[in-house]
Amino acid sequence: MGAEFLARILKLKTAYYSDPTWGNHDMVFTNAGFTSCHSYRFWDSVNKRVDIEGFLEDLESAPSKSVIILHGCAHNPTGMDPTKEQWKQICEVVKRKNLFPFFDMAYQGFASGDPAADGWAVRYFIEQGLEMFIAQSFAKNFGLYNERVGHLTIVLNDPSAIPSFKSQMQLIIRANWSNPPAHGARIVAKVLGDRELYQQWLQAIQTMSSRIREMRAALKANLEKLGTPGTWDHITQQIGMFSYTGLTRDQVMYLVDKYHIFMLTDGRANICGLNTKNVEYVSKAIDDAIRNVKS
Ligand SMILES: Cc1ncc(COP(=O)(O)O)c(C=O)c1O
Repeated sequence: MGAEFLARILKLKTAYYSDPTWGNHDMVFTNAGFTSCHSYRFWDSVNKRVDIEGFLEDLESAPSKSVIILHGCAHNPTGMDPTKEQWKQICEVVKRKNLFPFFDMAYQGFASGDPAADGWAVRYFIEQGLEMFIAQSFAKNFGLYNERVGHLTIVLNDPSAIPSFKSQMQLIIRANWSNPPAHGARIVAKVLGDRELYQQWLQAIQTMSSRIREMRAALKANLEKLGTPGTWDHITQQIGMFSYTGLTRDQVMYLVDKYHIFMLTDGRANICGLNTKNVEYVSKAIDDAIRNVKS
């Protein structure tokens, strides 16, 4: 909806997403009418960290009014977010170069366990006076995967633009899906609007995110105990539900064929799939793959 509004009504045609990113960003923006989609550097695969220098350089060379898609927290697939200092640098370039930030917030609460803390970058950009769109999904943090629940939040500096914005947006929605599904949205609205249910939800997010952290620590400890070649600090440095393990395509296929352990061929593993009963099995399988599949 947001991408279509920007392409159709504001005639924006250039969008940038991180390299790598969620596999659907390019298709969503291309289908919405963006004719010039590019990636900006994000991941330094050698040092397994955010390539902030490359990121900033690519923003510097983006044409004015480009839409910059930013993962609000718990970046998919790398599990690495910019630090607060790095977000400030990113925001400074976005503002100075007249770029349009579009936050994609699909994992709020997964990074720190606290949805408010995970919203820091978005709030910082707003404090700097930037106008922006924020697409917020409740699929993961409410476990409502097939209900299509989310918010599109619009930050505008001129409130007099709101009525015309709304009427244009209604036309896009009407032509697109006419009416959104209601039931998942009612569940989310009920929980967010009720003090007691809201506290329960915050507690559930804490439990879920600390379990992920425990599984990261267990995986790293097991690999280190096995003496698996390589360094495994990135497993616990990364946050959110995904780990960019560094396993190669051939090593992933070996895990699938021999051990029935599944992850994306770029090495992205879903840490939520680990538990106290299977983490040792997975660690031994990874150890075997690393030692016996060279690529
Ligand atoms: C970065 C990112 N944005 C959006 C989504 C999709 O959210 P939704 O299921 O609400 O469309 C995902 C994952 O499914 C994602 O990783």
